[in-house]
Amino acid sequence: MREIVYYSRTAPTAGSYIKENLQDSGRIDIAIHTVIAAFFLSHKIRTDMKLHLCFAGPPTPPRHLELMPVTEGKTGIDKIYLAKTNVSAVLKKMLYKHKEGEKREVFPGFWIEKKGFLELANELAREGRPIYALDPNGEDIRTVEIKENPVFILGDHKGLPGKELKRLKKLYTPVSIGPKTYFASQTIAIVNNELDRREVEGRL
Ligand SMILES: C[S@@+](CC[C@H](N)C(=O)[O-])C[C@H]1O[C@@H](n2cnc3c(N)ncnc32)[C@H](O)[C@@H]1O
Repeated sequence: MREIVYYSRTAPTAGSYIKENLQDSGRIDIAIHTVIAAFFLSHKIRTDMKLHLCFAGPPTPPRHLELMPVTEGKTGIDKIYLAKTNVSAVLKKMLYKHKEGEKREVFPGFWIEKKGFLELANELAREGRPIYALDPNGEDIRTVEIKENPVFILGDHKGLPGKELKRLKKLYTPVSIGPKTYFASQTIAIVNNELDRREVEGRL
């Protein structure tokens, strides 16, 4: 199982804050591209992936949206229809359905709760998960050792939260995907591709 933690300091924390213009809605468009890059293959949804969206924008931060879409069973009963065109509607509904004090499963495999980035990252570290922070100054992803069941963390257009990362020190390995600054979604595509290759080669 691979996991990705995406942090956005601007992404909205209430459904009503997602408007028609997605770029003006706390850059929720970047989170949507992140979901697509994390899960969508040609004609297939990845089942070996869990995505955590940590939203810290207005009006009621933080929100933790956990996505591991169910792909088996009847659509509308056991699973939802997830397409590139309805990701924003799914995220909006999840935000609307948040209930204080609960980790709520809004659709099969889609949960929402009030939890911040640092708390989540610390939890994953306590579980013994190997954590890799995507950072252009880190070790090259082509040569770094990646342990089983890795967790990769990355940020939105404003990057990862420096203060929180400092507090996570020593609990993660910084990893670079190359010499340029890529979109969050492009970064995920490269990470997924690297992990796919290592799995095939038996290096993971
Ligand atoms: C558009 S970039 C953010 C740019 C932002 N100005 C910053 O300084 O972090 C989105 C995320 O992709 C990841 N990223 C982008 N390029 C990368 C690279 N070359 N190596 C590793 N991660 C990268 C980082 O985690 C970054 O937070």
